[in-house]
Amino acid sequence: MEAIQNLIERTSSSHLSMPIPSREELNTIYKAALRAPDHKDLKPSRYIEVSGNGLDRLSEVFINFAKDSDPNIDQSRIERYKKMPYRAPLIMVLISSIKENQGVPKIEQMMSTACSAQCILLALNALNYSGIWRTGEVSFNTSISKLLGLEDNEFVIGYLYIGTDAGPKKNIQAIEYDDFVSIWD
Ligand SMILES: Cc1cc2nc3c(=O)[nH]c(=O)nc-3n(C[C@H](O)[C@H](O)[C@H](O)COP(=O)(O)O)c2cc1C
Repeated sequence: MEAIQNLIERTSSSHLSMPIPSREELNTIYKAALRAPDHKDLKPSRYIEVSGNGLDRLSEVFINFAKDSDPNIDQSRIERYKKMPYRAPLIMVLISSIKENQGVPKIEQMMSTACSAQCILLALNALNYSGIWRTGEVSFNTSISKLLGLEDNEFVIGYLYIGTDAGPKKNIQAIEYDDFVSIWD
């Protein structure tokens, strides 16, 4: 695929099924992820790769998160959390591992992880897979960090749900660039 076509035509998909990338393809995808811009080369991003039985483990984590967040939670809401990880055959948990550095605040390190997420989505598209970035209540809080076994300096900035696009091809809306771009010349 042409590099520029990959950038312009990538779409997310919420209908994701097997196959997922092979180990070799995943290694390429992580190489792309770790080429994200990274101020002072602090390497703030890491990932938990979840598939197979790992999805059951993540489902347990989400159930415990739901129960911890609301001790009076009803069974139907617990079921919703339980099912969440099964929306794709592979999930990458996006983690910002914040390094102490005067010149590079936490927000910059989180933005670097966000850039790495887009690198992953683009690499997936180039390899004919797809994904969608989801956040929700199970991101950006210390409760989910603890349940996932993260360190105190680590934050979940979202989840990439990954697989092969099993849905109808998404239409990309034409954009009036003038609405978003100011030109100073
Ligand atoms: C930080 C971030 C968080 C997001 N969280 C969710 C989410 O929780 N649920 C969801 O359906 N889409 C979420 N999205 C949007 C999708 O990932 C996707 O960008 C959107 O569906 C547009 O699809 P496209 O990439 O095909 O344009 C989020 C996007 C970003 C950047």
